[in-house]
Amino acid sequence: MVKTIGIIGAMDLEIELLRDNMKLISKENIAGFNYCIGRIEGKNVILTCCGVGKVNAACCTQILIDRFKVDYIINSGIAGGLHKEVKICDLVISDNVTYHDVRKNQMRSCFPFKEYFEGDKYLIDVAIKACEITKKENYHVGRIVSGEYFVSDKNIKNNIIEEYNPHCVEMEGAAIGHVAYLNKIPFVVIRSISDNADNDANMDYDTFEKISAEVSAKLVLNMIDMI
Ligand code: ADE
Repeated sequence: MVKTIGIIGAMDLEIELLRDNMKLISKENIAGFNYCIGRIEGKNVILTCCGVGKVNAACCTQILIDRFKVDYIINSGIAGGLHKEVKICDLVISDNVTYHDVRKNQMRSCFPFKEYFEGDKYLIDVAIKACEITKKENYHVGRIVSGEYFVSDKNIKNNIIEEYNPHCVEMEGAAIGHVAYLNKIPFVVIRSISDNADNDANMDYDTFEKISAEVSAKLVLNMIDMI
């Protein structure tokens, strides 16, 4: 069976390289999201940009699943580094994703009764192999946390690290993983580090957002080739 891969980026710059490498067949706009239907590396791909934040990400992901029947979901983009070994422009592959702005107890006790959502083993494996084949050494497999705000404060950063022990922070991955889990669709989040989520985060972000978005998109291109 020919598989269809759904790729989501939050911002245009996070999907630019992928769109440049896409043989576009058609386009659809649903609920304000643009879905590019085409082929990348000879594979069927639906590429979309969900906008910033968890609700946008969740809505866009559900449409990707319902309307386009994707078999896999990959979220590509940038993130703030939280782990001491994670440096700017490094890659993080999601072992699992969760929210840093929802209490663990609520996650456990409310539907769908999950404290976190696990990345798909096969997709994680493909991502690791893609790093190794392209000799990208600075990659990490770990937890990615999402929340409704840009983290640029050392104290907030330290509180998140203490509670969740994550590798990086962003604003969509857990919502995408959550919706993928509900629909039983394998997913993985790939992020490259644009800043350290500290008091210099805004400055670093401006310098590195484009470079790190490309680092992530390049890995996803190689992954698509291998799926
Ligand atoms: N995306 C990139 N950097 C981030 C940060 N510091 N906080 C939240 N999302 C991000």
